[in-house]
Amino acid sequence: MTGKVLSVASECLGLIKTGGLADVVAALPAALAGQGWAMRVMLPAYPGLAARLDPAQEVWAADDLFGGPGRVVAGRAAGLDLLLLEAPHLYDRPGGPYTGPAGDHADNAERFAALSWAAAALARDGTTEGWRPDVLHAHDWQAGLAPAYLRYGPETAVKSLVTIHNIAFQGLAPATKMAALRLPAEAFHPDGLEYWGQLSALKAGLVTADAISTVSPTYADELMRPEFGMGLEGVIARRADAVHGILNGVDTTLWNPETDPDVHPYTARKRQGKARNRLALIEEFGLDEVPGPLAILVSRLTWQKGIDLIPAALGPFVEAGGGLAVLGSGDRDLETALQEAAARNPGRVSVRIGYDEALSHRMFAGGDAVLVPSRFEPCGLTQMYGLRYGAVPVVAGTGGLADTVIDASPAALVAGAATGIVFRPVDALGLDQALRRLVRLHADRRQWAAVRARGMKADFGWDRPAAAYAALYAQLSS
Ligand code: ADP
Ligand code: GLC
Repeated sequence: MTGKVLSVASECLGLIKTGGLADVVAALPAALAGQGWAMRVMLPAYPGLAARLDPAQEVWAADDLFGGPGRVVAGRAAGLDLLLLEAPHLYDRPGGPYTGPAGDHADNAERFAALSWAAAALARDGTTEGWRPDVLHAHDWQAGLAPAYLRYGPETAVKSLVTIHNIAFQGLAPATKMAALRLPAEAFHPDGLEYWGQLSALKAGLVTADAISTVSPTYADELMRPEFGMGLEGVIARRADAVHGILNGVDTTLWNPETDPDVHPYTARKRQGKARNRLALIEEFGLDEVPGPLAILVSRLTWQKGIDLIPAALGPFVEAGGGLAVLGSGDRDLETALQEAAARNPGRVSVRIGYDEALSHRMFAGGDAVLVPSRFEPCGLTQMYGLRYGAVPVVAGTGGLADTVIDASPAALVAGAATGIVFRPVDALGLDQALRRLVRLHADRRQWAAVRARGMKADFGWDRPAAAYAALYAQLSS
C-alpha cells in the first residue's frame, strides 16, 4: 500500500529548530519514501523561509485566516517537499517560533490554530495542483487542532494521526476563544476539548484524531500514568487501543562519525580520530588534562532535562578524575548554576551557553560519555547520537532513554549486551551513583572498549520506525 501524507508541524531541521521535534519532522519524509509513502511537510512561513523555496507555487489561499489573508506556497528547500503557510499578520515577526523579544507571543493560540486550520482545509479539499493526502499527521499541540477541524468540519475521507513529542506543552487557551478559533461550542466539555476550564489544543488532537502516537514505547505506557500524563493520562488511557509507541530514529547520514565534516573521522574499529577529537574538545573548552571520563551535555537547560541535579554530583566526579563540557541554553537559574559549577571546578568543567550545531557534533565526537539525566524524556535523541559517536550514554531510566540504552549491570556486561549506564531514581543521589559507575567502567579498559563499540554498532536508523509509521498509515487509510 502506498499513499500520501501531510505532516504538519511548527519546526523542521534546516529551517527552524528548538528541539528534537525538528530533527524528526525533517527525517520522516525520506524515511517514508522508502516505504512508498509520499510526505509533504507543512510549516508556518516564519521570516525568511518562503524566500528559500525553489520553485515556489501558491497552492491554497484564504482571504481571512484568523485576522488576515493566508496562503500556502509549495516548493523545495532543505531537501524537502514543503508547504509553507504565509500569513504575515501571524508569522512575520522577530524572534523564535514561539517567543519574541518580550516572551511568548500573546497570540500563539491563533497562530497555531491558523496552521491547523489551513492544514485541515488543504487536506480535505486538496491543493490547486490536485494533491490530497490520505493521512494528516499532526505533531504536538501546535498541530493538535488539525484533527479537530477535520472532525468538526464537512465529512472527509482524510484520516488523522497526532504524535505527542512532549506532553508538557498542551496549547492551553481561555475557553472564551472557542468561537474565535472556529471551534464548535458543543465541543467544550471534559470528554472534548476542555481541560480544567481551558481549551487545550493538544487534548483536541488526542480526542479527535483517528490514532495517537508517541515517540517511544516506554513513554506510551508512562503517558497513561499520573506521574507522566500531566493531567491527560485519563484521556490517553481511554484511547489505549489507538495509542502507538514508535521510537524515533536518528539521521545516520548527518550523524556518522566516519563522514561528519565537523570532526576527525573515526569508526568503532579505527579510533585514532576519536582520540584527536577528544584532545581538540579539551582545548576548545579550555580544560586541563582529564584523566577520567570526559562527559558532555548538549541540551535545553530545563527542569525536564534534570539539569539541576548536575552541580551537586559534579564534586565527587571531578575528584575521581572526570570532566564535563556543557553546551546549552534555557532557564537562567540553570545556566547560572552550571556556570558556578564550572567556576568551582576550573580546568575540569566548562560551560558554553548557546545553540551551536557544529559544536554539538564536535562534542559528541570528543566526549567519552554523554549525560541525559531527564526527569521525563519522550524519546531523546542525544543518547542515540552518543551511542553512534562512542560517547557512552549515562541516562535516566525513563521514556525513550530506557528504550535505547542497556544498562551496564554485571549481568548485561557478562552477556555482552550493555551499551551505557541507566539510573533510577532520577535524583541527585541517583546521578551521583551513576557517575561513580561511569568512572569505574571507564577505568576497566576492556569492558569500556566493549561497551563503547557495542553502542557504536547499534542500529538506530529510521528504517524500523518508518516501517512502523507506514503500517499505521496503511491501517488508518484502508
Ligand atoms: P528535546 O527535543 O526535548 O530538546 P531531544 O534530545 O529530542 O530533546 O532533541 C534535542 C535536539 O536539539 C538534539 O538534536 C540536540 O543535539 C539538539 N540541541 C539541544 N541543545 C542544543 C544546543 N545548545 N546546541 C546545538 N544543538 C542542541
Ligand atoms: C520532544 C521530546 C524529546 C523527543 C523529541 C522528538 O522534544 O522532549 O524527548 O526526542 O520531542 O520526538
